[in-house]
Amino acid sequence: MSIDKINDLHSRLETIQAGGGEKRIEKQHKSGKMTARERINMLMDESSFVEIDAFMKHRCTEFGMEKEETPAEGVVTGYGTVDGRLVYVYAQDFTVNGGSLGEMHAKKICKVLDLALKMGAPVVGINDSGGARIQEGVDALSGYGQIFFRNTMASGVIPQISVIMGPCAGGAVYSPALTDFIFMVDKTSQMFITGPQVIKAVTGEEVTAEALGGGMTHNSTSGVAHFLSQNEEACIAEIKKLLSFLPSNNMETAPIFDCQDDMNRLVEDLNTIIPESSNKAYDMKDIISNLVDNGDFFEVQPYFAQNIITGFARLNGASVGIIANQPKVLAGCLDINASDKAGRFIRTCDAFNVPILNLIDVPGFLPGTNQEYGGIIRHGAKMLYAYSEATVPIVNVITRKAYGGAYLAMCSKDLGADMVFAWPQAEIAVMGPDGAANIIFKRDIENAENPAAARAEKIQDYKDRFATPYIAASRGYVDDVIEPSTTRQRLISAFDMLSSKRETRPSKKHGNLPV
Ligand code: HXC
Repeated sequence: MSIDKINDLHSRLETIQAGGGEKRIEKQHKSGKMTARERINMLMDESSFVEIDAFMKHRCTEFGMEKEETPAEGVVTGYGTVDGRLVYVYAQDFTVNGGSLGEMHAKKICKVLDLALKMGAPVVGINDSGGARIQEGVDALSGYGQIFFRNTMASGVIPQISVIMGPCAGGAVYSPALTDFIFMVDKTSQMFITGPQVIKAVTGEEVTAEALGGGMTHNSTSGVAHFLSQNEEACIAEIKKLLSFLPSNNMETAPIFDCQDDMNRLVEDLNTIIPESSNKAYDMKDIISNLVDNGDFFEVQPYFAQNIITGFARLNGASVGIIANQPKVLAGCLDINASDKAGRFIRTCDAFNVPILNLIDVPGFLPGTNQEYGGIIRHGAKMLYAYSEATVPIVNVITRKAYGGAYLAMCSKDLGADMVFAWPQAEIAVMGPDGAANIIFKRDIENAENPAAARAEKIQDYKDRFATPYIAASRGYVDDVIEPSTTRQRLISAFDMLSSKRETRPSKKHGNLPV
């Protein structure tokens, strides 16, 4: 073969790798963004990335496109390893036609999704795009449709991670929304269905792109995103960390790491962490960090529905998904957003064989017309549904309150918890002592000489008799009442005992999750 052909190959590759050219790359860098190739190189283990379809070209002939070169078709795709494990990746190249998505651009993404599904490996999709390539019209729309279909087929089979590192507008937002996790970078990423200009024209509202669909908006207000990073480098480090808690596919379990933290470590502080007064708040995150390996808790959706905490950690080196009420926020009540957040996280853990630990201190569902009109009934039902459906090992620790429907919604034994531990100060009952006394002793209180004193006495009476873990334990709803300091040891032992759990559900086309 003539050396010319080899030189020609290299020169073609050089042109492709130069993307949209120096000026556009400079603009990208100036706005705090890396290029598609830089992002991929940072994500993948050194020299492990293998590009595919670098030579793919668009075939649009409208609006002068026949004369336009679109290096790599505006999206870099391929595979490589992250911490030694196979991962597929695509990264839209904003320097090429604004990373806009046309027919062939979509084909490249679909090929990667197909390969990832066949091979059972995660996909990381980096979005930085002006949306549908306007010149390509309906072909671009069809491209999106093909991606959405594949995202749905791959859902629950391989982890799909979406990373927003620039604009992601219009229907384009629905690919990330169909995947398992969305990362956003503060100030440089936006997601919205209709942008500020359209909103102004239609509703008259004035809003900036950042306030409408920036990273903090979707992490704290809408709950669309799961992670917010300060910059792209931090974001990529967090993606790698997330991958370390997950298996490559639904037939595997997450990797087990060497554990330097003593599995029998007693945590004396836990014996005194719950305040004497049951109405006083404490930080559930202090309990979590005391229990898990090296205090390392990787929180998912830390800014959204803070009355419930979700995230990953390890116990004796094995991945566990934690769902915990946060007494510091709304007294730990469940509400619409908390139910959505927890319901989704339970299903993510169950789909990917990550055992679940529930840390429970829940006084009930949040009362109010906002909640009722907003559909707390159907939202709360998502938690009941997700727990009932889950077949991964589930262990509960009731640290304090477990009342009423919220006790069930946090996965009582009836819904499938395999092991339920309660701390001695736990209160497990149908409702709180104040409310209960007002109802069942209403007459006695009204007819008493001193109603206030009678009320206090009846509340105390109810508290003494029912607000304890021992009634639930006497019926077997609680498997053991444990000294808080021994909780880490007991959890590790319980998850170890449950590691061979096999449970099946009736076969069906699919369930009908309340949405
Ligand atoms: C083709 C596009 C494009 C698009 C941007 N470009 N968006 N080309 N189709 N959708 C090109 C620009 O012409 C420009 O080309 C380059 O990308 C960079 O764009 P700029 O506007 O210079 O960049 P910037 O100022 O940073 O603004 C970025 C932007 C803006 C906010 C994304 O470009 C924009 O508003 N684009 C249109 C967004 C949009 O309405 N998309 C369609 C949404 S509808 P040159 O050659 O000058 O570098 C949709 C439907 C999907 O996506 C439905 C799926 C179901």
